[in-house]
This record gives sequence, structure tokens and C-alpha cells, in this order.
Amino acid sequence: MSAQTQTSHSGGQFHRRYRQDEKPIGFSLNGVAQVGRLGDTVLTAIMAVSSHVRQTEFTGENRAGFCLIGACQDCYVMTEEGQRLRACTTPLQEGMRFVTAIPVDAGV
Ligand code: FES
Repeated sequence: MSAQTQTSHSGGQFHRRYRQDEKPIGFSLNGVAQVGRLGDTVLTAIMAVSSHVRQTEFTGENRAGFCLIGACQDCYVMTEEGQRLRACTTPLQEGMRFVTAIPVDAGV
């Protein structure tokens, strides 16, 4: 397998370094089509294209995860269907759809 790497930056908090032959994985963020890579977690895929994964229910501040190992619960992200996922431990799958804004009907 090629060890060739590429660095890309598309406005996200993370700067992606990946092998060029890794399979693209399509997902959407706030209704906009995005492309992650095979092996991404939801967090790495979103943070490669965005500065945050959600806004806190308490203050509306942007959050981007903290521990990156599944311990702090700071990286919860909402799907368009209203499901909460722990982004740092959830593998990205084709067709996932996420929103970063607090849903209007969240009751907070
Ligand atoms: S960043 Fe801490 S649980 Fe995901």
C-alpha cells in the first residue's frame, strides 16, 4: 500500500493527512454534501470541514470534543433524524446526515 499522503484544509478545525487511495465516504453536514475517508470517525470527518460538531444546550457555545477517546461526552452530535451520537467513537458510514445547530424542538 502506498505511503503517499496528502494534506488538505477545507475550513475545518482539523487538517487532514490521509493516503490518497483511501475510499471516500459521503455524508452531509447541515444539509451540505461532504466527503470523509474510510477509517474516519464521525468527529474526524466533521472536524475536517467544520470548526465544531454541536452547540451546547446551555449557552449555545460551539463544542468540538475534548478527550477524543469516548470519556468526556463533549462530542455528541445530532443526526438529522434527532439521534445523538458520540462522534469520537462512531465510525463514519456512507450517507450519514448531521446537524450542528440545536434543534428548535429540543425542549431546552
Ligand atoms: S471527545 Fe470526549 S467523548 Fe468524544
